[in-house]
Formats: sequence, structure tokens, C-alpha cells
Amino acid sequence: MALWGGRFSESPADAVFALSRSIQFDWVLAPYDLRSSMAHLTILEKAGLISSGDSQLIRKALHELRAEVLGGTFLPKAEDEDVHSALERGLTEKLGSLGGSLRAGRSRNDQVATDLRLFTIDNLLQIGRSLVELQMALLAKAKEYSDAPAPGFTHLQHAQPVIFGHELAKHAHALQRDSSRIQSWFERSRVSPLGAGALAGSSLALDPLASAADLGFTSASANSIDAVSDRDFLVEALFILALIGSHLSRMGEEWCLWASTEFGWAKLDDAFATGSSIMPQKKNPDIAELARGKAGRLIGNLTSVLAMLKGLPFAYNRDLQEDKEPLFDSLSTLNLILPALTGMVETTVFDRNKMAKSAPTGFSLATEIADYLVRSGTPFARAHEIAGECVHTCERRGIELHELSDSELAQIDSALKPDVRLVLTVDGALSSRTTFGGTAPSSVTSQINSLLLEISSTQDWFTSESNRFSGMMGA
Ligand code: ARG
Repeated sequence: MALWGGRFSESPADAVFALSRSIQFDWVLAPYDLRSSMAHLTILEKAGLISSGDSQLIRKALHELRAEVLGGTFLPKAEDEDVHSALERGLTEKLGSLGGSLRAGRSRNDQVATDLRLFTIDNLLQIGRSLVELQMALLAKAKEYSDAPAPGFTHLQHAQPVIFGHELAKHAHALQRDSSRIQSWFERSRVSPLGAGALAGSSLALDPLASAADLGFTSASANSIDAVSDRDFLVEALFILALIGSHLSRMGEEWCLWASTEFGWAKLDDAFATGSSIMPQKKNPDIAELARGKAGRLIGNLTSVLAMLKGLPFAYNRDLQEDKEPLFDSLSTLNLILPALTGMVETTVFDRNKMAKSAPTGFSLATEIADYLVRSGTPFARAHEIAGECVHTCERRGIELHELSDSELAQIDSALKPDVRLVLTVDGALSSRTTFGGTAPSSVTSQINSLLLEISSTQDWFTSESNRFSGMMGA
């Protein structure tokens, strides 16, 4: 059913209708559209534009329609242009011409902007909850390996030994910033466009602030032209989702490396790996690869909406219809990846021995020699040089740093006493890294514990905001 047509003598050509319809993707907005219609109805009744008798009939029909939509018994038809037209058809089927009364003072322009905000708020709160699950899985693993030494890398070369739990926990820290981005986004985005109409507000006695409050927003748009044009909330949401995707891709890359034969650190659970159709021995880290690969489409979705908005005149232009599929795709992509990655993290077993054996190799303890010299008064630049000479000698002789003889040490520099060997152990190196955020086992444990506290308060926030949102939606 078209919501327009009075001034046209012909219906749109098939090709035009096919191009312009959005029902094939915007139907997911139906519950939000119905809820904002209820808010609009309240305002029309308050303004005396709909009698209380009619208002009761319409509200009852909206509730029925919502149950039918959620139950899948009311479905869009091929001839419906978009979610708004389909739902008005549903209402008119129940109420006759009374079903069209809600259009007073409202346009699809403020309507779609309102629906999208509600949809995005609902969905980002859900994403936040899935992030918490993944963080919990990462920190449980980090705890399990909070005493396990492993080589730490820069440039993918052995750099300094670290605690493996420290490596795992870092991903939960990155995701915590994403959670807090969702929280600040939420505060900024709770602004209602409803009441802006097509672009200019309304001559009817509507009350945008009251409908905003009814829908759980903290305020209404202060400029009606901006209200129907603004997609900042959506772009910011896409950015947050893309950044989450980028964080997950870095995690995915590590899992791929760790599960490789060369590393041999990670053993994936059979339920979280896949095989090859030709090579019977293969067990592939496909979940990690997909997490890495899907970051591409999340970034693409963000840039596609930014490009669509660039230079777009204000108020509504049909270009804006292109804001939806990228958002829906980013959300469904993350809703697929997040639980799969959580399961993968929970079930991966790491080889402590292999990681510990590899921790001191590649001269990863050379910094300890430099720090040792600094403690006895050598300026760091000189200490660095001396430690470099130790590495050079070892490389020439094919030995490790702790295998240098007393005389070889003294020959390199007189400040290198035999007791330098005491710092040339992985355990010594690790337990000395007690600075805030450092890799000493005691520091790692306290970092994990304080992040767990932070996550649990974030989790409470997500739960209470989600409950509040569902309460508003169910009203
Ligand atoms: N389906 C449209 C969209 O998604 C709804 C708004 C249409 N407004 C208009 N003036 N044609 O953006």
C-alpha cells in the first residue's frame, strides 16, 4: 500500500517500485515503529486531535498488530513499500479509515529516524552484553594462565618474556573500551526526532518532549531540520561496531598464529575448528579467520554510510534509506562472531611447556643485562651497547646469554660480574616487572581482578538499561 498517490495520475513503474522499496530489509523496524506510533497516538489524543474513544480503538489495534508481528502472523506483502506502509495497511485492515489517523503531524521522515534510533539503542545494548560474555571468557583463561611464562613479541620477534595471562587479558581491556564507548554513545544518542514531521515541526499541538520521554529518550531534537537529517548516532554506532571488529580481528590473528604447527601453543576444541575437504589431517582455525576477515565488511559498512552522507543536503533525501542495510549487516555480523569467539576462547587449551621453553629464546633476556648495568650506575645508552655485545658474542659462539663465561663477561665490560646470571632467568625477569600494568604474575593477577570488577559493573549497567528499554517497548 502506498502512503502517497493523490497528486499522481499513474502508479510508479515496476522498475521504480523495485528500486525504491525497502520492506525487504526494514521490516525489522516494525516493533519500534509500532511503539513510536503508540507514543504519537498519546500526543494526538492529548492535543484533542483524536477522541479518547478512537484512541482506545487505535491503541487496541496497535497492540494486536504488535502481537501478530511478533508472532509472525502479520507479514509484509510484496506491494508494501516499506515498514511504515505495511503497518498502516495492517492498522487500516483492522480499523478502516481510522487506521490512517496516526499520520497527522507525523511524516515517515521523523518516523524512520525515531524507529532507527530505538532499534540501534536496543541492539547496541545487546552487543554490549555479548562483549561482556567474551570478556569473561578471556579473563577466565587469563586467570588460568596467570603464572605461565611465554615469549612476548614486538615486530613479531621475541622481545621480552611475559605472562601468557597478560597477553590474553589485553583483549578484554580493549573490549572494555568498546563497552564504555557504547555507554557514552547511548547518553549522546537518546534524543528523539519524533515531532519534527517532514522537516518543519507541526502546526498541530504536538509535544515532542513528552513523546521523547514516553519512548525513553532524554530529550527531543532542538532543530526539526537536523532531526530528520541527523544520522550521527548511526555512524557512531557503525564506528563502534567496526572498532570491535578490528579488535576481534587482532584476536583472530593471534589465535591463527598460536594454533599453527610452527607455534603449536593453542589446541582448538573440535567443536570450534573445522576440517579440510581434501586434507584429512587438517584442523583449521576458521572461527579466528572469520573474525579476522569479517572486520573488512564492518569497516566497509561504516565507510559506505559516511560516503552516502557526505555532501547530502539537509532534511530528508531518499539517499538516507541506504543507512539501514549497513547497520543491520554490522549487527548481524557481530552477533554471529561474538558467541563463536567466546566458545573458542573458553575451549582453547594452551601448551604451557612449549610457551615456557620458548620464553627465554631469541635473546629475550638481553634487556635484563642492560637493566642490571643501569642499577650499578652505567648510563642506559652504554648499558644497551654492552648487552648488545653480549648478544653478538653469543650469536658468534652459538650459545645463550647465561652460558657466557665469567671471563667473557668481564672482557665485554668490567661492570658485568658473575652475579649478572641471577637476572638472566625468565622467572627473575617476570617477577621484577611489578610496575603498574606490568607483567609480573602478582601485577597480572591484580589487573585481572580489577578489570573483572569493572566488567561486572558494566554488565549491571547493560542489564538495567536493557530491562528499562524492554519495559518501555512493552508498554
Ligand atoms: N523507507 C524510507 C527510508 O527508509 C522511509 C522514509 C521515506 N520518506 C520519504 N520522504 N520518502 O528512509
